[in-house]
Amino acid sequence: MSNNTEKIKFYSGENIPLELHKVRIVQKLHLVPIERRLEALHEGGFNTFRLDTKDVFLDMLTDSGTNAMSDKQLGAMMSADDAYAGSQSFVRYQKAVEDVLGKKHLLPVHQGRAAENIISHAFIRKGNIVPMNYHFTTAMAHITQYGGKIEELLYDEAYVISSKHPFKGNMNLEKLEECIKKHGASNIPYIRIEASTNLIGGQPFSIENLRGVREIATKHKIRLVLDASLLGENAWLVKQREEEFKNSSMAEIILCMTDLADLVYFSARKLSSSRGGGICTNDYAIFKELEPLVPLFEGFLTYGGMSVREIEAIAVGLYETLDETMICQSPQFIEYLVKALESKGVPVVTPAGVLGCHVDAMRICAHIPQTQYPAGALAAAFFLISGVRGMERGSVSNQRDEYGNETYADMELLRLAIPRRVFTLSQIKYVEDRMTWLYENRELIGGLKFVYEPPVLRFFMGGLEPISDWPEKLIAKFKEDFGDSL
Ligand code: F0G
Repeated sequence: MSNNTEKIKFYSGENIPLELHKVRIVQKLHLVPIERRLEALHEGGFNTFRLDTKDVFLDMLTDSGTNAMSDKQLGAMMSADDAYAGSQSFVRYQKAVEDVLGKKHLLPVHQGRAAENIISHAFIRKGNIVPMNYHFTTAMAHITQYGGKIEELLYDEAYVISSKHPFKGNMNLEKLEECIKKHGASNIPYIRIEASTNLIGGQPFSIENLRGVREIATKHKIRLVLDASLLGENAWLVKQREEEFKNSSMAEIILCMTDLADLVYFSARKLSSSRGGGICTNDYAIFKELEPLVPLFEGFLTYGGMSVREIEAIAVGLYETLDETMICQSPQFIEYLVKALESKGVPVVTPAGVLGCHVDAMRICAHIPQTQYPAGALAAAFFLISGVRGMERGSVSNQRDEYGNETYADMELLRLAIPRRVFTLSQIKYVEDRMTWLYENRELIGGLKFVYEPPVLRFFMGGLEPISDWPEKLIAKFKEDFGDSL
């Protein structure tokens, strides 16, 4: 399947993403007045996770479980085989995993973090180290929960927000060797590599780099675990950016990547536009070691806590990951928004990655110290003036260290997720318009402070409040410029 959008040219020369799908089910949206949006922020502790969708216009919180499903996925859900054990839906899921990811043994789990729990439970002992390109919130929480520690081994380029490096998610091979030397291979249960590294702006690794990681893992007899939640997009970017693979199919690229890993896990909420997860491997010994944990934590081995209907949707969704006209949709819209914002001077993570457009709150809110959570403040301010819900990916999303001290994020980002095939270009233009306005009025944004801080994954349910009356000042300026516009 080729990426036809690249072959379609506009007579005007305009370069915009063109959808190769039609919309057949729609959901009505509401844009509530700015005064209501401020109330909603107060009710939700200035935390966009705690907003109700009835107050949200464009939901750009995440692509997790919110990508549009295809007619074929919905159709397959109708022919699910309801059975506690031995369901044929699971057989179809196994076949899809073997065909698309090249792994024979599959353990179903209800979502990505459930896979992380099982892998950490099986392999992490107190004091262990898990080297990784970069952490993801839930991956790190599970590793530390079982007494392990993580080491992030990116190249310096990865931390440069405005960059041209095509593979900022690459693992630093020299640092990996040093890390193994320092801690000893026996203290490293596995190396974790994440596709389309989420928290640094959805940035991919190259296959050349993954081959290097594999070589080191083999040399030291350490397992290599691949977090494949965003594997499809990483593969698509490999095709665009890595010379060796420019003529390869998505199927070939994906198999090439999964082949290099001993164990692959994923959130199907991302990978297959449905809701669930999985752990897969060709190593029978690893499979047998993890197997008993699935009935313990998740459910029987042929459903793993998922509905059989979702399992059918995952199977179809995995095959659809190989369709470039589907997988390119989100990265192309992101690239459009990134370039549009960049042209207006708004600092964003470049090159455009996957999952969403990442806005640099550290620069936009340079007047807000990290102790007052600039990315959280930007997320709240942007919702207030637009009704668009993004997600804080900065220090609020960080966890405290083992002594309870605050740790500050390397990057303070506001993530505006663009789930696959959900938004139209005029909606993206609205985001561009409102973000440009907010950028021009950035001095009006103020900081936040915690009033309720949960002990684990605090960003989900944490409560914050503004440290001054900055939201009211922002509303006054909005009214001045937009009059009675929503
Ligand atoms: N790994 C990665 C790279 C992820 O992005 C996520 C989830 C998970 C694991 C956990 O999977 O949510 O199914 O339990 N990311 C979502 C996000 C939450 O919004 O980026 P899960």
